[in-house]
Amino acid sequence: MTAASRAEIAGRMMVALDYPDAGQAKGLIERLKGIPCYMKVGMQLFYAAGPDFVRELKEQGYKVFLDLKMHDIPNTVKGGANSITKLGVDMFNVHAAGGSQMMKAAMEGVTEALALANTQTKPMVIAVTQLTSTNQQTLNEDIGIPGTVEEAVVRYARLAQQAGLHGVVASPLEVERIKGQLGAGFVTVTPGIRPAGADVGDQSRVMTPAQAFAQGTDYVVIGRPITAAPDPREAIESIIASV
Ligand code: C5P
Repeated sequence: MTAASRAEIAGRMMVALDYPDAGQAKGLIERLKGIPCYMKVGMQLFYAAGPDFVRELKEQGYKVFLDLKMHDIPNTVKGGANSITKLGVDMFNVHAAGGSQMMKAAMEGVTEALALANTQTKPMVIAVTQLTSTNQQTLNEDIGIPGTVEEAVVRYARLAQQAGLHGVVASPLEVERIKGQLGAGFVTVTPGIRPAGADVGDQSRVMTPAQAFAQGTDYVVIGRPITAAPDPREAIESIIASV
């Protein structure tokens, strides 16, 4: 494998920095130094370490996915998207369940921030369709949406595309259907990734990184198989080699 193709694969891997504080996250980043992967900052770390931590990641040259899954009235989401865009992140997300007006408001927040701020990074805005923890029973009985999870996912993905979003977070098992119906250019970001033989943990429907890329996914999100590995660097290197 050439250095260029290794870097290309690394750039499509998002390492989930699911840590309670900046110190522990920095410990992992130090061990992965030099690998040009995406860093995913979710609620746990962001609520503890805040925007300064995100700015530091950007200063170190990382691409950043800010996974805060916004879901609020359109005006509030627009303001949130504006603030997030000014941080210079490369990707962030909102819940498709907030509706098309809310998703359009997120896009407006991005546009306004780019017009005013000195960041040149236009973030990709991605919709959460159905959480991978949602099963058929939760969907039908708790949330009250009829039909299958797959039908709900594709419906929300279409709504996100019509609202001008760039893609969706989805299970790797849904990628083929989403790309088939909405086009190859509609971005998919897929968690639920486990290298062959790895502990599945609380994820139920998993694929290996190679299988997920073979389905046509654009980005894979990998947390514990890297963060909980005895040697995280060796773990990510071997995942890159497996793809
Ligand atoms: O440790 P693991 O590889 O399971 O981590 C998956 C990451 O992807 C976590 O940060 C989790 O919050 C996130 N995620 C997910 N399912 C979704 C959306 C995000 O697992 N539908």
